[in-house]
Amino acid sequence: MIIRDNADMRGYTTFGVEASAERLVEYDGLGDLRDYFASHPVSEGYYVIGGGSNILFRGDYRGTLLHPVYDKNGFGVRREGDGVVYVRADAGFDWDDLVGMCVDNGWFGLENLSAIPGTAGASAVQNIGAYGAEAKDFIESVEVYNPFEDECFTMRGDECEFGYRDSVFKRRRELIVTAVTYRLYETFVPLLGYADLKARVEAEGEPTASSVRSVIKRVRASKLPDPKEIGSGGSFFKNPVVDVALADGLSVRYPSMPRYDVDGGVKIPAGWLIDTAGWKGYRCGDAGVYDKQALVLVNYGSADGEQVVELAGRITADVRNKFGIDLKPEIIIL
Ligand code: EPU
Repeated sequence: MIIRDNADMRGYTTFGVEASAERLVEYDGLGDLRDYFASHPVSEGYYVIGGGSNILFRGDYRGTLLHPVYDKNGFGVRREGDGVVYVRADAGFDWDDLVGMCVDNGWFGLENLSAIPGTAGASAVQNIGAYGAEAKDFIESVEVYNPFEDECFTMRGDECEFGYRDSVFKRRRELIVTAVTYRLYETFVPLLGYADLKARVEAEGEPTASSVRSVIKRVRASKLPDPKEIGSGGSFFKNPVVDVALADGLSVRYPSMPRYDVDGGVKIPAGWLIDTAGWKGYRCGDAGVYDKQALVLVNYGSADGEQVVELAGRITADVRNKFGIDLKPEIIIL
């Protein structure tokens, strides 16, 4: 375990904004967490940061950040013999390494979630999703530590209150995810509901998990900035769900507006709204809107969190004026 006061956090988020944390605790597993809380009062509070791919520091963080370190041996596998494979990964395990390892070993299910930055722990907290798949579809159980009670327990997937980029762990921040078990399959069933993905995969021949994975890696690399080159946190906003009357009115004004019927209304892509409002490629200093995907706000180098938040506010106000829709951030602003 490494404990640092006044830690430089720039390298800990994919946005790469300048920020410091009053205290940063890098821990390796439950033993370290217990040791830490045995000598530090839990009442001081804490916040867990995984791969930092969904977090924007608005300024310096006053408090304690807990960060699980990545242990490449932090996974295990259990076969049930009926074509089901349970893969358990430590919270700090790199998400895409996990997906790659599963595809290579013939444990299928996660391939549509390829090339998403972050950790296994975050896959449960955030219920990550892409190309018609969500982590919740595969999460069998989540192991949790509650330092307030010094208690460890396991929650079944159906107890985690998963929703669109949401789970109970976003509301109960005191719970620290320590490991996640995924229910995967030895038989590959392609999930190609996204027309664009289907066409690209089928162009390579009979679909396999490896071809799905490599196509998605390419598509994501072409649409989303590489965090090593340009700071960002992927989608900045959630795709809003609006009522049918509002969507119908907009469809009259914008006949080509993409729209998807979902429970509770109509989902409209935030990227389309921001693009149509004219923000794609906009830049103010080093904060901007990515020129290949308007849903992604970027830090071209030395933007600070406040500048990105300010830009997000201007976009939100403009989208509200033009379309009557309130965008909500997917990114967590600390
Ligand atoms: N669109 C535009 N202009 C843009 C961007 C998008 O007109 O600048 C339109 C597209 O043409 C398309 C629609 O908006 O008709 C949707 O775009 P896309 O298929 O690229 O997906 P998305 O809704 O923007 C979501 C997730 C992504 C995920 C992709 C693929 C959210 C907030 N985002 O994006 O997740 O990778 O679907 O499934 O749900 C992330 O969470 O960080 C993330 C990247």
